[in-house]
Amino acid sequence: MKVLVVGSGGREHAVIRKLKENSEITEIICAPGNGGIAALARCEAVAATDLAGMGELAEREKIDFCVVTPDDPLALGMVDFLEGKGIPCFGPAENAAIIEASKVFSKNLMKTYGIPTADYNVFDKPEEAMKYIRFKNSYPAVIKADGLALGKGVLIAADEKEAEEAVKEIMVDQAFGASGSRVVVEEFMTGPEVSVLTFTDGNVIKPMVSSMDHKRALDNDEGLNTGGMGTIAPSPYYTKEIADICMKTIFEPTMRAMNAEGRTFKGCLYFGLMLTPKGPRVVEYNCRFGDPETQVVLPLLKTDLFTIMKACHDGTLADIDIEWSEQSAACVIEASGGYPQKYTKGYEIYGLDENGQHEGVIVYHAGTKLSDGKYLTNGGRVLGITALADTLGEALDKSYAAVKEIGFEKVHYRTDIGRKLR
Ligand code: AMP
Ligand code: GLY
Repeated sequence: MKVLVVGSGGREHAVIRKLKENSEITEIICAPGNGGIAALARCEAVAATDLAGMGELAEREKIDFCVVTPDDPLALGMVDFLEGKGIPCFGPAENAAIIEASKVFSKNLMKTYGIPTADYNVFDKPEEAMKYIRFKNSYPAVIKADGLALGKGVLIAADEKEAEEAVKEIMVDQAFGASGSRVVVEEFMTGPEVSVLTFTDGNVIKPMVSSMDHKRALDNDEGLNTGGMGTIAPSPYYTKEIADICMKTIFEPTMRAMNAEGRTFKGCLYFGLMLTPKGPRVVEYNCRFGDPETQVVLPLLKTDLFTIMKACHDGTLADIDIEWSEQSAACVIEASGGYPQKYTKGYEIYGLDENGQHEGVIVYHAGTKLSDGKYLTNGGRVLGITALADTLGEALDKSYAAVKEIGFEKVHYRTDIGRKLR
């Protein structure tokens, strides 16, 4: 079997590392890939959003199965496009990827099917959004751009003035492009956040181990929102009892709601949850593996990933028992200084062996490139240093010990990943 993985981040590296365990797979191609992925897969320079280019690559290479990992190609319909050419894929069709691509769609879905989430209203005119926010007079107010915005389209306003600025930024200045032509204004929720990735074929839905991301750039959850600065798994907050509630009130109802809408979801459906005093609520859905959640979740998977992915495609997921390790995992992201705003690329990374790895940990490459045998920084988030151990505390210690030995000029990482959970 020849497998094509679309994407270029740490998440894709984690998917490929796991797929390598399958003996049926003879070759993995990754497009576009990165420096670290190149140690495991042949990287081809086709952009993740280039549908026609990906189709040509898949046909030329006689690909047997394709894993479409990032949100943008899923929202653009890459799965529909490749399956139209007879190439089976892991990932949702365009009409199901909308669960992430439009917050208005997902909020309306939850309201229609009684899935617990924050109360909200949708606006397409800035004056009306502000009229509602003033009328509610309840702060913080949460204001979200409707469409995809690299995880940055959510603004939390402490008062009326900040709300005015947020509405202007999203709707008038279009800081997140056309994705801000509609906004969702929603109730502010409190409680620990948990990410639960699931596998689903539309018939059954099987949760993976829970995890927790750290989205802010700086320690103590200060600074700007990022794609994610570190993760741990499993989350100690996500007890068996909460998992059962989530299954009954959120996971299965969401799968059935998508079926009822004629938008059967197949692939990895990601639930961003908040464990509020009133019970678990959905913060957001993603139509794909989370990044960097995947870098702690997949290393704990004991069952063969390729078998699960094929079953999601074939509709036979009910037949597969998915087993997880009892260990804990921690991932600390090393980012370029200045991320998520301006940063410089091209610094040499030290502390890696010729395969881009380091003893005792798994080094997932996100923004790296290989040049003359050297690994160079090539993005905002550069590396994810993952360690596994019997306890979360030990996993964090192992990861941070390696973080001290791997780095590059102006490296930035948080020093408090998982600290409150030890
Ligand atoms: P999202 O992109 O929708 O996941 O939102 C990004 C982050 O904003 C979430 O991870 C939360 O930390 C925060 N957030 C989003 N919606 C709410 C809400 N209704 N109440 C409190 N925090 C929120
Ligand atoms: N880590 C959050 C996400 O992948 O959207």
